[in-house]
Amino acid sequence: MADIGRPVTTTDQPKPAKQVEIFDTTLRDGEQTPGVGLSVREKLEIAEQLVRLRVDIIEAGFPISSPGDFEAVRAVSRAVQGSGVTVCGLARTRQEDIDRSWEAIRDSERPRIHIFIATSPVHMKHKLRLTEDEVLQAAEDMTRYAASTGAEVEFSAEDATRSEPEFVRQVFRRAAAAGAHVLNVPDTVGYTTPAEYKTLLEFLMADIMPAHPKVKFSVHCHNDLGLAVANSMTAVTVGVTQIECTINGLGERAGNTSMEEVVMGLYTRRSYYQTNCCIDTRQIARSSRLVTTLTGIPVQPNKAIVGTNAFAHQSGIHQDGVLKQPLTYEIMRPEDVGLAGSALVLGKLSGRHAFRQRLAEMGYTLTPARLDRVFARFKELADRKRDITQRDLEALLEDEVVDGPETISLESFHVVAGNGAIPTATVRVRVGSETKQEACLGTGPVDAVFRALARAIGLGDEAGLKLADYSLKAVTSGEDALGEATLRLEMGGRTALGRGVSTDVIEASALAYVKALNRLLGSAESSRPTAAEGGASGGAVSDAGRLERGTAPE
Ligand code: KIV
Ligand code: ZN
Repeated sequence: MADIGRPVTTTDQPKPAKQVEIFDTTLRDGEQTPGVGLSVREKLEIAEQLVRLRVDIIEAGFPISSPGDFEAVRAVSRAVQGSGVTVCGLARTRQEDIDRSWEAIRDSERPRIHIFIATSPVHMKHKLRLTEDEVLQAAEDMTRYAASTGAEVEFSAEDATRSEPEFVRQVFRRAAAAGAHVLNVPDTVGYTTPAEYKTLLEFLMADIMPAHPKVKFSVHCHNDLGLAVANSMTAVTVGVTQIECTINGLGERAGNTSMEEVVMGLYTRRSYYQTNCCIDTRQIARSSRLVTTLTGIPVQPNKAIVGTNAFAHQSGIHQDGVLKQPLTYEIMRPEDVGLAGSALVLGKLSGRHAFRQRLAEMGYTLTPARLDRVFARFKELADRKRDITQRDLEALLEDEVVDGPETISLESFHVVAGNGAIPTATVRVRVGSETKQEACLGTGPVDAVFRALARAIGLGDEAGLKLADYSLKAVTSGEDALGEATLRLEMGGRTALGRGVSTDVIEASALAYVKALNRLLGSAESSRPTAAEGGASGGAVSDAGRLERGTAPE
């Protein structure tokens, strides 16, 4: 019988014969999304969720690109020990990159160094200014050097799909002979098509596999022409066993292959692909939300799998069909991606033990200090909101990811607004050991609070503080739903994201503003240069170790 979707158990369809490994690069390629800059703490939070999702490999960063990236890769390597996941650090084909990468990942239980060099004529001539022979030599020498550390080595031929297939074949032969364990064929600029990619992969695999049967083939696709997922899925049909992807398809320009689409494609159409992966699909929705929250990059409503409309049926005919038989219009079940109804979990009288137990069931084990903080927030929320759902708890956990000491905190605020009233806000904030207060008028109550907050900490109009983005949404439904405010502040060429949740949307906005101010004025690592300044997005290190635009891998 042909697939009609919604596999319910492993017995309803033939068991997939093969496994494909999921290589997540949200923390490396995904972080190259314009405007995104994750702190070490945020990267750790995402890495822990990737472990719950059961990815096989986490590419945690590009250690030589900045001290912050190095720290993050090292912290992830240490934090996920015992989970069985491989932690990977990116490096160019240079000894100093490889040394730095190895230093950052050496504490991982499964370290992998990912080295890359471009093989296309346009990259070799204009970017690298290297001849073919020099590229061949660098591929061989640096693969051998990376392998001498004892780490697993992945070798990528950057821009492989615009390279001469014969040249990529020669480069791969040299890398495989020098000890590469994985050979990656990136579609760096999202240029190829499924049929063309298939031909290239078959050509390369037929040449390398007989001499190196243990070498794995991998794909890494960008989405410039909207084909990243289609190209990656095609690769599976020719026997590629690793897919590189990001949560929500984040990444440079139009992004990378979207993990949730690949995983649900393999799962839903497993009798077609005859391949599966180890991902716990029920963690998909939560992973997507966490990444949205921490990066501030929203998911479009009609995005496959994780968009808010992905499981919504609008037309009467569709609704009628789904009520009669879900299979009519649903090829996947919402609960398979973790969208089960947001069940009531706890209430006002729930104690600390029940709270910890519920978090553990959701997959969270918190340190005692963090548990204390989240429990205190939960109690505050329980006073204002009758039913506390799993989604509410997730929102509190996400909100509580802090990057370090926050010197500014909101003590209280008061607003006057309404028909005929001039919106006015009074705020009281704590800055270090001092308490400051200020009152301001605004175009609305939120604007008045923002102005008062900025002025209270000494940032008058002349400071050039700009609200670059602001959005407000409900976390769950219902009158007492939590409101979530996300905003971005810019000042002096730096940008910082802030997010706040509360049942009061003005309070949520004020909390988000204070969080962004802390990041903007505090650690330089968690606020990023703006795109106009040549920020982390698109930047890579030059020979001198400075950030420079335009040389980053995609
Ligand atoms: O897109 C690309 O080519 C990359 C490589 C580093 C794999 O990101
Ligand atoms: Zn890339």
